[in-house]
Amino acid sequence: MHELKADSDEMHAPTYAGRSFSHEVPKHHLPARGMSADAAYQLVHDELNLDGNPSLNLASFVTSWMEPQADRLAQETIAKNLIDQDEYPQTEAVHQRVVSMIGRLFHAPAHGTPTGTATIGSSEAIMLGMLAHKRSWQRRREAADLPSDRPNMVIGADVHTCWEKFARYFEVEARVVPMEAGRYTIAAEQVEPLLDERTIAVAGLLGTTFTGQMDDLESINELLARVESERELHIPLHIDAASGGFIVPFSQPDLRWDFRLSQVRSINVSNHKFGLVYPGMGTIVFRDSSDLPQELVFHINYLGGDMPNYSLNFSRPSNSVVLQYFNFLRLGREGYTKIVGNLLSNAKALAAKLRDIDGLDLINDGSTFPVVVLRATEPQAADLDRLSHLLRERGWIVPAYTLPANAENVSVLRMVVKENFSRDMVDMLSNDLRDALQVLRKQATDYPHRPRRRPHC
Ligand SMILES: Cc1ncc(COP(=O)(O)O)c(C=O)c1O
Repeated sequence: MHELKADSDEMHAPTYAGRSFSHEVPKHHLPARGMSADAAYQLVHDELNLDGNPSLNLASFVTSWMEPQADRLAQETIAKNLIDQDEYPQTEAVHQRVVSMIGRLFHAPAHGTPTGTATIGSSEAIMLGMLAHKRSWQRRREAADLPSDRPNMVIGADVHTCWEKFARYFEVEARVVPMEAGRYTIAAEQVEPLLDERTIAVAGLLGTTFTGQMDDLESINELLARVESERELHIPLHIDAASGGFIVPFSQPDLRWDFRLSQVRSINVSNHKFGLVYPGMGTIVFRDSSDLPQELVFHINYLGGDMPNYSLNFSRPSNSVVLQYFNFLRLGREGYTKIVGNLLSNAKALAAKLRDIDGLDLINDGSTFPVVVLRATEPQAADLDRLSHLLRERGWIVPAYTLPANAENVSVLRMVVKENFSRDMVDMLSNDLRDALQVLRKQATDYPHRPRRRPHC
């Protein structure tokens, strides 16, 4: 949220765009007069030059490059509203195909009626998945004449904030498994004590935001299967495959993390991460249409025809769905497998270069997930927050943050290796990181009493 600049009269001081207009242009209220499209373009373009360079942004998992043909399709489809299925039936057909391809990639059982939809990202997908599980749980409780208040869900402290957001916005108690030194994921043994008859679902992660590691999904699945058979408690497993959903199917196709596990009832993925499309696209897939209570699906007819809709928002551009379709046709399984192989090999190469640096330790060596995560072996060995700032001076965006409860005393540096990150960049970044560390160490010797900055999340 942004505090409004309700009384600011600050004006633009344009650079090149200033050649095309002479009137004052306010920054925080609607200008009284307009300007030519060229001048407006130049003004906005110049302002956005102040952003970081997306190619050097190793902080984010989100796609920052697509092929020119994809850019053309994005431009052609930006004006089509995805919700308007009656007006754009072929876009809707593409949407359905994309969801099917993803469901099949995740081994949705062909004998049932798997169902799903594109969303704006994994956050919306997770909210939709969990809302469905909450409502299904309430209906089961009501049918058995049992109280249906105070639902809870079990998550690890390794989850993304969107899970806590879901809990708070939709009034579900979050039972959080804390981390501990050396364990930054969850397994059945930590989940089991937190389950009870009010648990609507358990979250399992295929690649955590913090360290890129995976929860022990097989063990959680076995636990939930046992709880179902022994205690007659049906507790769905939702897999948050925001970033892993387009890595593991290509790098470890035999790893059972998806609908091949019996208790997995829903999976989300961020297509704008390793699905390799620009931001604005996620997907939720349910194992079976019975996992999504039909009362949550709205049937809208005021745009013409009957349009079943399960989403948190309404209008949205269709271009990211179209771009995902483009990538599926363009790359196929073979293309994704090759790209994921390259990502992992670059991530491993980066980890190998950083492995021997004194005072740093690898938490994730990039061998199964294209992120490299380092921690300082001793807090005084390296101030990762300052290291991150020094790397920023070289253009690299590499975040430093602390791990979640109860591992807050561990601060880490995370580098997400994306498709644009070349082997040359591996060398450049590792050299810059070594140089930055030397600067830090020299500063520590020259100015031993300088206060240390605290790491931020
Ligand atoms: C594991 C995990 N879940 C959910 C999200 C939220 O994804 P989105 O940004 O697509 O809403 C992220 C984002 O980084 C994530 O890493």
